[in-house]
Amino acid sequence: MNNTIEKIKDHRSIRQYLDKDVPDELIDEIIKSAQAMPNSINGQQTSVIVVRDKAKREKLAELVGNQPYVAKAPVFLVFVMDFYRTYLAGEKTGFNQVIHEDIEGILAGATDVGIALGASVIAAESLGLGIVPIGGIRQNPEEVIELLGLPEYTFPMVGLVVGYPADESHKKPRVPFESFKHNESYDKKAVEDSIDVYDEKMSKYLKEIGREEQEVNWSVFTSRIYQSVYYPKVKAATIKQGLKTK
Ligand SMILES: Cc1cc2nc3c(=O)[nH]c(=O)nc-3n(C[C@H](O)[C@H](O)[C@H](O)COP(=O)(O)O)c2cc1C
Repeated sequence: MNNTIEKIKDHRSIRQYLDKDVPDELIDEIIKSAQAMPNSINGQQTSVIVVRDKAKREKLAELVGNQPYVAKAPVFLVFVMDFYRTYLAGEKTGFNQVIHEDIEGILAGATDVGIALGASVIAAESLGLGIVPIGGIRQNPEEVIELLGLPEYTFPMVGLVVGYPADESHKKPRVPFESFKHNESYDKKAVEDSIDVYDEKMSKYLKEIGREEQEVNWSVFTSRIYQSVYYPKVKAATIKQGLKTK
């Protein structure tokens, strides 16, 4: 293939970082890559907050559920779904914005943030940097909103730790390709057949990295998490931000 694709396919999340700063120019290149991505109606409903301040990163490391790499790596990016900018456009024109009150707005905003996050991951890894996304940013959203001064109609969707990797990390296997790629219509059988195959593959992988006791396999790990709403404060926080869903 080509280098870009090879690099993308070699992705792995990094949770050990060197004590080494990342220059502003590199961070700007990452964020410019995110900004260049497609977005819904060109509303550009994403903002990225760069957090370098050590005390702030330490606080965030705690708020995201005690994830130490948020404090250890020199840069933490927070990807914000941003309907404040478009709200201002409506204030200017007199057209009253309602999209942020509907699930369609939330889906469009979340999609845009996801695309921006993906581009940032690729850009950072292409520069030899390590990353790990942090969904834990939604564990205590009201405190994060306060700490980052986020206005109404915005929400911290995901964080991204950026730094120089201190270890190689392992490449995590994915579900069988035949159950990920569907031709013409959804192939339920392929998905059903993939579960046992992938569980076996993951338990082998987990044994290799010494985590088989904690995680067991994909089915056990995932279904344990999905038996509860793991970030229960999100709903109240979105309503407080004016993002109430109909
Ligand atoms: C939206 C999102 C949120 C995530 N949140 C966390 C997190 O809070 N903490 C963490 O250690 N990893 C987090 N991850 C990383 C995933 O656990 C990781 O991508 C997944 O296990 C696959 O492993 P890999 O990235 O090494 O291939 C997140 C990834 C995504 C895309």
